[in-house]
Amino acid sequence: SVRKVFKIACIPGDGIGVDIAEAAVQVLRKLSERVGSFEFDFTTFDWSSRKYKELGYYIHPDGPETGMEELKKFDSIYFGAVGWPDVPDHISLWSLILPIRSSLSQYVNVRPTRILRGTSSPLSNCKPGDLDWIIVRENSEGEYAGHGGITHAHSSNTVATEVSVFTRVGIERIMRFAFKTAQSRPRKKLTMVTKSNAQRYGMVLWDKIYDEVKGDFADVETDKMLVDAMTVRMVLRPESLDTIVATNLHADILSDLAAALSGSIGIAPSSNLDPTRNNPSMFEPIHGSAPDIAGKGIANPVGAFWSAAEMVRWLGMENAADSLMTCLENVTDSGIKTKDLGGSSSTKEVTEALCTEIERMM
Ligand code: NAI
Ligand code: MG
Repeated sequence: SVRKVFKIACIPGDGIGVDIAEAAVQVLRKLSERVGSFEFDFTTFDWSSRKYKELGYYIHPDGPETGMEELKKFDSIYFGAVGWPDVPDHISLWSLILPIRSSLSQYVNVRPTRILRGTSSPLSNCKPGDLDWIIVRENSEGEYAGHGGITHAHSSNTVATEVSVFTRVGIERIMRFAFKTAQSRPRKKLTMVTKSNAQRYGMVLWDKIYDEVKGDFADVETDKMLVDAMTVRMVLRPESLDTIVATNLHADILSDLAAALSGSIGIAPSSNLDPTRNNPSMFEPIHGSAPDIAGKGIANPVGAFWSAAEMVRWLGMENAADSLMTCLENVTDSGIKTKDLGGSSSTKEVTEALCTEIERMM
């Protein structure tokens, strides 16, 4: 029979991004080999801070747009992490990851978290099952719209503005996606997060559109929270939450907290989706390049594997994605874990254990 071929652009980036992307490619190859009905054709792009230091650009000398045309030819993008101490972080982010998210209309960022078998939460009373969330992050506008400027930069009167941009179109499409996500889960429960007491225009528009959209999803149980109170609820009543929707900045922060509460920032995946499927979507762990542990071979690859599973799911192979997650949890359950999860295994050892488990199970 004919195997379906998926073209994947792989952008390892910087630091541990390189280690975990390599690990994810190895696991995806093993998975496709065992399932047999599909295969991945990877093309690696060296778009990194090292290259920027050498050549003065991340993606293309003519500007990032030229690179985007290349990316559009792929079925999916797999991303490691970007950022290195010798390049200011706002340059690396705005030269690589943010242009991809915006040019390819990846306006949704989905960030699931739960406590995997064989791992534990730093919350003493939180058992697996008590924390099982999906954070839906607005990924195209809001606080990261890039709208603002700096004047009198070299005087003592420097003024900088960082303007949040919220549009009806942008809010409504993320809200509908979040309601649909909540509806697809057993508990059918959505919590909407804003800061509409202090921020009285954009955040109030979020409240208004939430009220409008709610009417179309009568079977979804809803509530709303202010973001500061939300951090307290996540820590004290994790079992009361299921699907969460929030702005670009708020969800960025809440999802790091969510990852820590479920064991480590090293386990959490993210999907940057263009739900219209007109453009390829991009999959990456939520963590950064972790310069403090880069090159030591100890980065936790679990978030990278979970992101790979989400990519497989988005490409339509639901069963293969579920099997990959089962194998991954069999590995964590057997105690093969990196240091951040209380284990002593290396990135390579976890990766090999997962490949062996895939061979055994599939
Ligand atoms: P980070 O996520 O890289 O690291 C935070 C802490 O978590 C560090 O102590 C690190 O060792 C640990 N950690 C992260 N991932 C881990 C893993 N897989 N296994 C074990 N430990 C892990 O965040 P940080 O330090 O704020 O940023 C470092 C660089 O990464 C910066 O240049 C930043 O701009 C960039 N960054 C890039 C992102 C992306 O590419 N999407 C996202 C977040 C940060
Ligand atoms: Mg973040």
